Amino acid sequence: PKLHFTLPSGDKKTVEAPSGISVMQAARDAGIEDILADCGGAMACATCHVFVDPETFRMLDAHSDAEDEMLDFAATERSETSRLSCQITVTPEMDGAHFTVPVEI
Ligand code: FES
Repeated sequence: PKLHFTLPSGDKKTVEAPSGISVMQAARDAGIEDILADCGGAMACATCHVFVDPETFRMLDAHSDAEDEMLDFAATERSETSRLSCQITVTPEMDGAHFTVPVEI
């Protein structure tokens, strides 16, 4: 699927991602370094925080309690559609999804 990202600079980037990896990994593989992902996907850092477009957000599995707690530590205050991108698995249905990378991560 094609995933769209809006970066902190305002630039937009479209990534053709394989299914099965995390959105964080797809972004990093495509050179989006604004998503720091310090802990490498272990749900221990919140530096992979993204705002998900509402339509995609509704389609995702609910986040775990651990992810919910970690989002409270995100540098940019969480919104109703905040997720940790390392906890979102890319699926074919996600084609056209849009993720906004917070200015402070
Ligand atoms: Fe650290 Fe997602 S990469 S919580």
